[in-house]
Amino acid sequence: MDGKDNDSGAMRKITVEVLREMKRSGERITALTAYDYPTAKILDEAGIELILIGDSAANVVYGHATTLPIGMGEMLYHTRAVAAGAKRAILVADMPFLSYQVSIEEAVTNAGTLMKAGAEAVKLEGGAPMLKTIQRLVEIGIPVMGHLGLTPQSVYQLSGYKLQARTEAAQEQLLSDARQLETAGCFAIVLEKIPRGLAQRVSQALAIPTIGIGAGPDCDGQILVLHDILGLSDQKLRFVKRYAEVGKAIRAAADQYRHEVKGGTFPGPEHSYTEEN
Ligand code: KIV
Repeated sequence: MDGKDNDSGAMRKITVEVLREMKRSGERITALTAYDYPTAKILDEAGIELILIGDSAANVVYGHATTLPIGMGEMLYHTRAVAAGAKRAILVADMPFLSYQVSIEEAVTNAGTLMKAGAEAVKLEGGAPMLKTIQRLVEIGIPVMGHLGLTPQSVYQLSGYKLQARTEAAQEQLLSDARQLETAGCFAIVLEKIPRGLAQRVSQALAIPTIGIGAGPDCDGQILVLHDILGLSDQKLRFVKRYAEVGKAIRAAADQYRHEVKGGTFPGPEHSYTEEN
């Protein structure tokens, strides 16, 4: 099967094994971020296979310029809300900055706490330096998703949100990192903002799925930030496509509500009670 929508499997519970099977059969994986109960429920019902409780909440929910400020407290709060709304998709929670880099022990405690809150897997950023941490998490039964290329928690080290792996040396390094993440036990890897040819090479080299964001069409799946595709953020990124203008719809509803309350046309009789009803 090449990239087709497997409707017959529409109601199956998505697990790491199902994702591996989707790669084997050539069925593309769809993934989006969610941070709360209602949107998680809608995405789940729409058949999105992987929901990421992304640390991008720092940007799109809390209004920060980077993902660095968000911590375990907020990520647990969002993970609980998303877990209440999604039944079928696999739920992956981002490990926030400094929740896994300090020691393997802290990584285990924090990943475990996210799992107790309802996550079914965790995602962490980085290549070779993260291998021991990933191995330990997988060893104790926590599925781990890797994240290579543009890793937003390293934005200052990377000098901004630039396209990554432009040189041959950087491309070989990324390919080697991806192979090592697979060997360490990652069930999938996010590839962010890298040239499409490299993403294709990595996807062909690995047995586990690659999930691209700004990495071209040859990844095994695609992920985007929900607020970006809904028109709820100000992002104007080449790799984002807007599928709705929800921000404009909210603004129009708020304008109309304000107008009607000020003008005395809301609430009307149909929205008011008498003693009889
Ligand atoms: O936090 C996030 O939303 C992410 C995606 C961009 C992959 O890591």
